[in-house]
Amino acid sequence: MNMITITVDNKEVQVPEGKNLIEALKAVGIETPHLCYHPDLPVSGNCRQCLVEVDGPRGMALTIGCYTPVRASMKVATPASSPKVAEARKAVLEFLLVNHPLDCPICDKAGECLLQENYMIAGASNSRLNPDVGKQYHGNPEHSSTDGKGQHRGGKRIDLGPRIALDEERCIQCSRCVRFMRSVAGDEQLQLAARGGHTYITTFPGEKLDHPYDRCVTDICPVGALTDKAFRFRKRVWALSRIPTVSMDDSLGANIWADHADGVVYRVMPRCNPEVNRSWLSNAAKDVAQKIHENRLLGGNVSEAAKIIKETKGKKAIVLGGSCTMEDIAAFKKLAESFGSTAELFGGSLLPIQKADGIARSGDPVANRAGLEKAGINTNLSELLKRADEFELIITVAADLWDESPKEASGLDKIPKHIALSPFNGSTTKKTIFSIGIRHWLENSGTMINCKNMEQKLQETPTNEAAQTESARSIAEKLRDED
Ligand code: SF4
Ligand code: SF4
Ligand code: FES
Repeated sequence: MNMITITVDNKEVQVPEGKNLIEALKAVGIETPHLCYHPDLPVSGNCRQCLVEVDGPRGMALTIGCYTPVRASMKVATPASSPKVAEARKAVLEFLLVNHPLDCPICDKAGECLLQENYMIAGASNSRLNPDVGKQYHGNPEHSSTDGKGQHRGGKRIDLGPRIALDEERCIQCSRCVRFMRSVAGDEQLQLAARGGHTYITTFPGEKLDHPYDRCVTDICPVGALTDKAFRFRKRVWALSRIPTVSMDDSLGANIWADHADGVVYRVMPRCNPEVNRSWLSNAAKDVAQKIHENRLLGGNVSEAAKIIKETKGKKAIVLGGSCTMEDIAAFKKLAESFGSTAELFGGSLLPIQKADGIARSGDPVANRAGLEKAGINTNLSELLKRADEFELIITVAADLWDESPKEASGLDKIPKHIALSPFNGSTTKKTIFSIGIRHWLENSGTMINCKNMEQKLQETPTNEAAQTESARSIAEKLRDED
């Protein structure tokens, strides 16, 4: 990366070429408050929060950092050297907050709200709001109301679609959600309507916000205007702990944060990785936060399973699901070797491979396909289906084939014995003679190789169910010990 020299607050510094001023200053440790700017969205430059002073033909003048490219020899002033910048940023906040509701104590965004953070950075101001006038919100007239104090209020709990609720008064019209739907989702379902102080965010008349990535708008909304119905009012964000891990529902291996507290996963958020999923995560991948606590299979006696395996003199098929990590695969390879020539390993899923969506999904449901293949395991289950007659026992590991495709999986019904190791108590476990609950991938640590051949690390999220189950690999080790 080419570096250029600029002067920031009267000091020469080296910054990367080709960046905007927010990113260039960040590279030398200077954070610039911003609201509408998002590194993975086209720049719109509407909030004016990121003001700095830059030298120009008329000397130093205020300009927005997000829309100003850095150039060699540029002179930049931040609040560290320019009271004018500090004052201008504060003035922007005053405008944004004048009719903003006093909702922080009940707002889902509180604790991670950029407006709150920027206010804390700028330093408290004495309110100049005239108490006789009070706050006056003039958004969508359809949702306006007058409260007990005679003040105009905006819409609360506006149902934008199946997953998203809008609090109109909290919107700062930054247009991040509009730009996301337009440029990332490629389906312009949100718009800013009306002008000036009357501007509000809305869908097109009679239409809903409904898109496989629509929950991303709640991640990027810098304030608590767009809220995810699945998370709304469930937990204060400062009570959550975060685990950096990798989504195993798709072979792109989107980087995620698992936000949890007291053994419960409250939400799964995208963890920015420019090489993988950038700042995006599909609704389907986010759903894991709810699914992980539903219909879990807990318990199961390993010795009992070992006894069944020992009694089986015929061939055994071990099917590893796409969420098995490299460590799981290694443990089951060793287990298969301990059975001698009577065991054969397969991997994969009966779910169809779909097209990559170009956002944060490859479309391949076998997350660790590259890892399985690296370990020399055939990831096409059609061979197992063809040769089902050869086997006396099938052991499925995080491979819930009868849940994925009951019709195709019925071809495996001819295998007399079935042991399932699964996190869930679904149709697959109902087909077994014995089943053992295992940890879900979100509760597992380990390594996966994504479809771009990148090695990525999973870290375990401590859930109530994880405390009652073991990982697939530790069960494989126990089965081997009992063999
Ligand atoms: S969006 Fe919510 S947390 Fe942020 S300032 Fe407004 S009310 Fe407070
Ligand atoms: S709803 Fe949120 S993201 Fe959309 S314009 Fe308003 S503040 Fe910005
Ligand atoms: S962040 Fe630069 S104008 Fe909004």
